[in-house]
Amino acid sequence: MIHQKRRQELLSRLGDNSVVIVSTNSEQKRNSDVNYPFRPDSSFWYLTGFTEPDAIAVFSNNNYSIFVRPKDKTKEIWDGERLGVKSAPKVLLADNAYSINDFLKTIHKLIDKNNLVYFDDSSTNKLNENITSILANNTKLLNTVISEMRLIKDSNEIQNMQTAANLAAKAHMAAMTKASPGLYEYHIAAEIDAEFRTGNADYAYPPIVASGKNSCILHYTENNKLLNDGDLLLIDAGCESLGYASDITRTFPINGRFSKAQKQIYQIVLSAQKSAIASIKPGEKVNTPHEISCDIISRELNKIGIMKDLDNLTEFYMHKTGHWLGLDVHDVGEYKIDNDFRDFEEGMVTTVEPGIYIRKNDKIDPKYWNIGIRIEDDVLVTKDGHHVLSKSAVKEVKDIEYLMSQNIT
Ligand code: GLY
Ligand code: MN
Ligand code: MN
Repeated sequence: MIHQKRRQELLSRLGDNSVVIVSTNSEQKRNSDVNYPFRPDSSFWYLTGFTEPDAIAVFSNNNYSIFVRPKDKTKEIWDGERLGVKSAPKVLLADNAYSINDFLKTIHKLIDKNNLVYFDDSSTNKLNENITSILANNTKLLNTVISEMRLIKDSNEIQNMQTAANLAAKAHMAAMTKASPGLYEYHIAAEIDAEFRTGNADYAYPPIVASGKNSCILHYTENNKLLNDGDLLLIDAGCESLGYASDITRTFPINGRFSKAQKQIYQIVLSAQKSAIASIKPGEKVNTPHEISCDIISRELNKIGIMKDLDNLTEFYMHKTGHWLGLDVHDVGEYKIDNDFRDFEEGMVTTVEPGIYIRKNDKIDPKYWNIGIRIEDDVLVTKDGHHVLSKSAVKEVKDIEYLMSQNIT
């Protein structure tokens, strides 16, 4: 029902004679006969709830048709069951279903010349190119209309996102409890993996388990180095539960105790992150958390002599403070409208993830070298302010040190 309501809402934002075409991904080859694990297209999933590959939905105010893979006895023995054409209308609440193999010869019957066709081209479906060439004169892109809908989460989505955040928070705390010098980054990655799998969740993106100097590589995913006594471990890991992502980063000392220099930098990032989160409420500009983070980080780094020139912030903090989160980890939705940052609205979910990354640099005291710290939470905008979905993952120095002191391995 929820998907039906979303289709109706989408149509109500388009003209009366509109027809929407939205497809989902094809399977992607990894190597030889091996495919990557299949992940449906997010907008298709959002509008249909259908999670098989190679399907296309076509709907208007009068009709909802869906093209699906036909039943195939041999393929189903090898690769798993298919819903099939016969069952599709009842299960997916469609008026008609057809084989995806008949798409090109059937699509014309579903569209007449007065229709305005809206097409979402984000999926990797093999038929996308055919759709654009067949309907070339008559088509408008739908992506931004769906993006605006997906940007505001409904209660079902918020529930899924809370589940994803809870699971990831638990995984981060398991990682803190497990970490100790002598283990490898992949031992900690395995701990996170176990928490995700036992929660029936998958990764929302490749996890970053970055110790020592690797913590200064923003998208480090090798996850294979030794954990050294005295180094930090930065973990950026989030899971996907029923399609919805969490995206959490925690940074902690491998031996369970922050050095003085590590604590000093950690407290700057934490204070920037807390102030940035505190600003989030409906009506506030979506760029405010970033402005607050930049301001605090540059002032504090300047105060302790690491950053002499206030204009040098990007040397130590080179990414944005947040992004939309939802079915995609970097979720859809504009940040600006007519060149101005838009306002936060109830139901949006953003990450807040300031960081400081200090590489080896002869102009900086060596006690700060190889300190990379990011703290990232997932924040829902509520009617009166915000709710931190990932708040159960500890982040205060004393809480991290206490949890790590319970490490009994
Ligand atoms: N995990 C990717 C990001 O934080 O944006
Ligand atoms: Mn993020
Ligand atoms: Mn992240």
